[in-house]
Amino acid sequence: MSGKKKVILDVDTGVDDALGILLATHSEDLDILGITTVSGNVPLQMATRNTLKVLQLVGKENAISVYPGAYAPLIREPVYEYRVHGDDGMGGALSDMIVTAEPAKQRAAAFIVDQVNRYPNEVTLIMTAPLTNLAEAMRLDPLLNQKVGRIVSMGGAVKEARGNITPEAEFNIYADPEAARKVYHSGMKLTMVGLDVTEKALLREKDIDRLKGTAYYDFVQTVTRDYLAFSERGTGVRACAMHDPLAVAVAVRSDLVRTEKHYVDVETSSTLCDGQTVCDFKGRFGKKPNVDVALEVDAGRFIELFLSTLRKSETTRL
Ligand code: BDR
Ligand code: CA
Repeated sequence: MSGKKKVILDVDTGVDDALGILLATHSEDLDILGITTVSGNVPLQMATRNTLKVLQLVGKENAISVYPGAYAPLIREPVYEYRVHGDDGMGGALSDMIVTAEPAKQRAAAFIVDQVNRYPNEVTLIMTAPLTNLAEAMRLDPLLNQKVGRIVSMGGAVKEARGNITPEAEFNIYADPEAARKVYHSGMKLTMVGLDVTEKALLREKDIDRLKGTAYYDFVQTVTRDYLAFSERGTGVRACAMHDPLAVAVAVRSDLVRTEKHYVDVETSSTLCDGQTVCDFKGRFGKKPNVDVALEVDAGRFIELFLSTLRKSETTRL
């Protein structure tokens, strides 16, 4: 027994997914069983290719396999988010890299089912993309919900935060609300790391500067360049919301966020509010709470964890 937490990352790489992968692959507390990819920020093939590139950057392209998953949401057409992530999903970073590793032959949903059955109640699924792959895995194995250890899902907005793709919906949930609904109602232990906390977990240029001298400084600087500009135009603050890295960090250190247990449902049939995560704070529906909702974050400690994990790994490598 390694004592490390067994995890599968599910990504749509994506700028902040890339930073999440950097954090996860350097965390001493995580044993990454594999990375699954899905249509989301960018089409599936691009997300898979970007993931392979990030793994190659960290020297793990032969150690961690990448399992391509859904080409499209369960029943809807794909929605992409090039405005934030750039034409190639990574703001032009690693554009010259020649990918050496191939994606795995096994599909994402089948891989999730295999691993969860191999390690019942031990696997944490860190979901930083639309939840299509997990919903498909639940279709393959109807008893999956009894065997998943925990889900940490980046998605949704419930309290002060509003939507980032429509007025009320967060991107990952909006892109496949039917999948999200299925996962939220699955009975699995689910921690929701939504915009209420991720929009407070900000990486600024002065933070990025602290990576100078490490192998990742150039990459982090390049991958965040357009994202910083986009955020500044939208919010007036020149900083990257670390949505996906925060979800990874919460899988490692739950106490980075304060959570409350509530009943949360996903709107799937509204012209204006599709993809909205509705949190029943006052128990109006009288339903059993199903989600640990993150409402506050120790952003300073999170950014410190992110930077120190990358810096430490570099010292170890040197
Ligand atoms: C989420 O949507 C994607 O654009 C990001 O990668 C993140 O997972 C934020 O709403
Ligand atoms: Ca993502």
